[in-house]
Amino acid sequence: SCLVGKKFLSFVFLIIRVSQIMKVSIKDNLSKKILIWYDKNKRDLPWRKSKKDLNPYQTWISEIMLQQTTVEAVIPYFHKFTSKWPTIKKLSESNIEDIMDAWSGLGYYSRAKNIHKTAKIISNEFNNQIPNNYEELIKLPGIGPYTAGAILTIAYNKKASVIDSNIERIILRIQGIKKPKEKVKKELIKISEELCPDVRSGDYVQAMMDLGSAICKPNNPKCNLCPIKKFCYSYKNNLTNLIPIKKQRKPIKIRKANLFWIVSNQNRVLLRRRPLSGLLPGMLEFPSSDWINENKEYKKEISFPFKGNWKPVYGNVIHTFSHFQLSLKIYICRDVNERKLDGIWKNENDIPDLDLPSLMKKVYKHVFSNNKN
Ligand code: ADE
Repeated sequence: SCLVGKKFLSFVFLIIRVSQIMKVSIKDNLSKKILIWYDKNKRDLPWRKSKKDLNPYQTWISEIMLQQTTVEAVIPYFHKFTSKWPTIKKLSESNIEDIMDAWSGLGYYSRAKNIHKTAKIISNEFNNQIPNNYEELIKLPGIGPYTAGAILTIAYNKKASVIDSNIERIILRIQGIKKPKEKVKKELIKISEELCPDVRSGDYVQAMMDLGSAICKPNNPKCNLCPIKKFCYSYKNNLTNLIPIKKQRKPIKIRKANLFWIVSNQNRVLLRRRPLSGLLPGMLEFPSSDWINENKEYKKEISFPFKGNWKPVYGNVIHTFSHFQLSLKIYICRDVNERKLDGIWKNENDIPDLDLPSLMKKVYKHVFSNNKN
């Protein structure tokens, strides 16, 4: 029985090994297919260098410029910048005004300030060499996880995790991740590193960027042209229009209240001023019950401010505040003696000229469009 146990164990190990090899080969095939596609279809961009003239300085500058600016807009700025300051050393000796000048029109000027700071650090502490490891890169001003990963892969051909919006969308679709991207951040970082090959890492990353912008587009991706569709869960399962899943909005809270439209025997309507703190502070309003969360238990019978001939107005007034929606049911009572009630009495005709919150303007319109009596 010991022999049977051993055989069984080695069988289990064999299965594990085979599945590991399959996983690896899927990854290898995926990056191979993407690289073949890239060699035929890559965009010819000034910061893309062949292996022998890799230039970490230019990679850094281009990736910072490309963060919030389109490729087309970056190209002339990249030329101007790198011919004015061809090396880190030159850049570190420049002054911030000149850098700001060169940046003028690109926007997000904190990027230019950070470039200046980082150039000085690299010159003083790193002998004008951009670091080639994540721990040192990430400490530099303006360099976050994305830029660190982009420099490691593109400038140094090191395997690393790089996630920009294109790469993120491709990974979500290939893997068929049916959760909003905000919920799977760690998973995306891990998958992105796993998929990155350790040869031609920079080409692979830029191939993913090009694939995302030309083929695996947010809407109507061109799957028939995609070199990796056979690895793509979303393609196989017709999910490319659903993945990436959009972040669900929090269901909006609903509050309910009854509003009392009280008209006097002199045809004036009762208003009151809201408290000076809280929502719509100090503004005028028509009296209402408390605005109660819909899901709270509340008394079925309406507590009117006084006994009278109350008539409901057809329909509801709905108003959306930033954090909840209010649904008002309006009840009217006429021929009221003004001395019976505290508040501000206003002539019906003067109401449109009052400085009312828009919710109360809606109430006024609702009453008059539904009660033309
Ligand atoms: N966007 C950000 N980095 C890029 C790169 N290296 N190539 C193309 N588009 C990019």
